[in-house]
Amino acid sequence: MNLAVLQYYPEFGEKEANLLKVEKMLSKAAFDLVVLPELFATGYLFTSKHEVKKLSEEILEGPTVQMFSNFCRGKKVYACFGILEREGDRFYNSSLLVGPQGIMGHYRKLHLFYEEKKWFTPGNFPLSVTEINGIRVGMMICFDWRFPEAARTLALMGADLILHPSNLVLPHCPDAMITRALENRVFCATSNRIGTEKRGGKSLTYIGQSQIVDPDGKILVRLSGREEKVAVAAIDYKKAHQKKINFYNDLFLDRRENFYKVQNHLPLKLKKR
Ligand code: ACM
Repeated sequence: MNLAVLQYYPEFGEKEANLLKVEKMLSKAAFDLVVLPELFATGYLFTSKHEVKKLSEEILEGPTVQMFSNFCRGKKVYACFGILEREGDRFYNSSLLVGPQGIMGHYRKLHLFYEEKKWFTPGNFPLSVTEINGIRVGMMICFDWRFPEAARTLALMGADLILHPSNLVLPHCPDAMITRALENRVFCATSNRIGTEKRGGKSLTYIGQSQIVDPDGKILVRLSGREEKVAVAAIDYKKAHQKKINFYNDLFLDRRENFYKVQNHLPLKLKKR
């Protein structure tokens, strides 16, 4: 399978132009499955709920799914991308997996980062794994990397490949995803955006470094922090079926689940915002 990650600089609020730009970039590339950034069509640094509402779309009605349904049907390929989802009066930071037959997977970000908590409802779907052409894929979004439970759950559910649309602003994630790949022996594909957004007196710079990592923790591709590009790596997904790391050790069979229960701990004083 040829796996791709798309990295680019979206213009905040310019959904139509962003969709056109992405479609153009994708039409020039050869791949079977591509991952795009989190909220790739809208931008990220919102300043009001009104803005979030204006840029949101209902999954089945909006132009983003329309564009990808047509693209994937025409090219017989698969795409995973972040989307600002509206359902009633709620907004979710979501990702979709679309293929030639339409929508195949739908995930809502479980671990919201920073001011996302002002705009979005936390995800309420269980993590899930979908099979495409024999390869089992699961989705998580950006800051989910900081919760190893997300990648672990997907891996224990049988994922060979974790699709990871992102808008990374902190420096640690690209290297942390090597660990997520190693500890689960799965492929991980992180697609990040680049550029700086300055809005409402705030500024965020996105670090790029979109990458594909294999189950040995080897970086198959990693882009720079500046380039707009579709990077492709050929992967043999069966490599992720092998959880044995030497004659004596198997990452999954050696787990001591009975000892992982949280018990007799000193209670932490957790305060919910
Ligand atoms: C992030 O979760 N967008 C940092």
